[in-house]
Amino acid sequence: MSPRTPDSTLGRQFQNLRETRRHVFSLLPLRMASAIVEPGCGTGLLSRELLSLTPARITLIDTIERQGIPAGCVFERRDATRFFPSADIYISSFFLYQLKNPAAYLKRVAKALGEGGLYAVAGEFSYSDAGCDPLVSELAASLRAEGFDPMFGSGLEQTFRAAGYGVVEAGEVSPLREAPDREFLKLQLGAAGEPFSKRIAVSVFWGVFRVLGNRG
Ligand SMILES: C[S@@+](CC[C@H](N)C(=O)[O-])C[C@H]1O[C@@H](n2cnc3c(N)ncnc32)[C@H](O)[C@@H]1O
Repeated sequence: MSPRTPDSTLGRQFQNLRETRRHVFSLLPLRMASAIVEPGCGTGLLSRELLSLTPARITLIDTIERQGIPAGCVFERRDATRFFPSADIYISSFFLYQLKNPAAYLKRVAKALGEGGLYAVAGEFSYSDAGCDPLVSELAASLRAEGFDPMFGSGLEQTFRAAGYGVVEAGEVSPLREAPDREFLKLQLGAAGEPFSKRIAVSVFWGVFRVLGNRG
């Protein structure tokens, strides 16, 4: 899913994962937090929910300024891999898979968070093309062609561990079996998306990770 992803696709994807987000939020000290950062915020849907749950200053970062950024948040139109505000919590959804080196990014975030700081992932897809679903394979290939990692979700825990985080809790919503998003198919596959109308199964991974001290 590229930076040109339609807002409507982001919205549908967001609705489907309401329960997962609720659980992720319940693992975070939101009432005690004073600063939260959401990199790759898109339309800001995640932080719109967070606003009512925390008194923290919420900073949203994206390279694109989209409509819908909630009033009450600070929006920074910047490259998140070059801007690391200090915070108690970083939280993102469907962002890390777009980075060239997510582990290097997470190491830099760990410095901004400090020992004990939390990084929450509300969702990252894994489009496994090892199965026999040609549509999932095509989507995976098209995301890969954009420079993204379509399997990123399935390596989530490993990536965080490699970057110096411990796992507070992590899991998989598996698999989301639903009719494919037509707008998303058209964007990713063009005409190739048209013949497909069946349901597809794609896994979503989530987790809350804590920055470990030097002794790990
Ligand atoms: C798939 S969208 C997800 C948006 C939103 N988090 C959501 O779940 O609806 C990924 C977002 O990450 C942004 N993004 C990708 N690389 C970025 C970077 N290096 N710095 C800031 N934003 C970035 C894109 O512009 C896009 O808005």
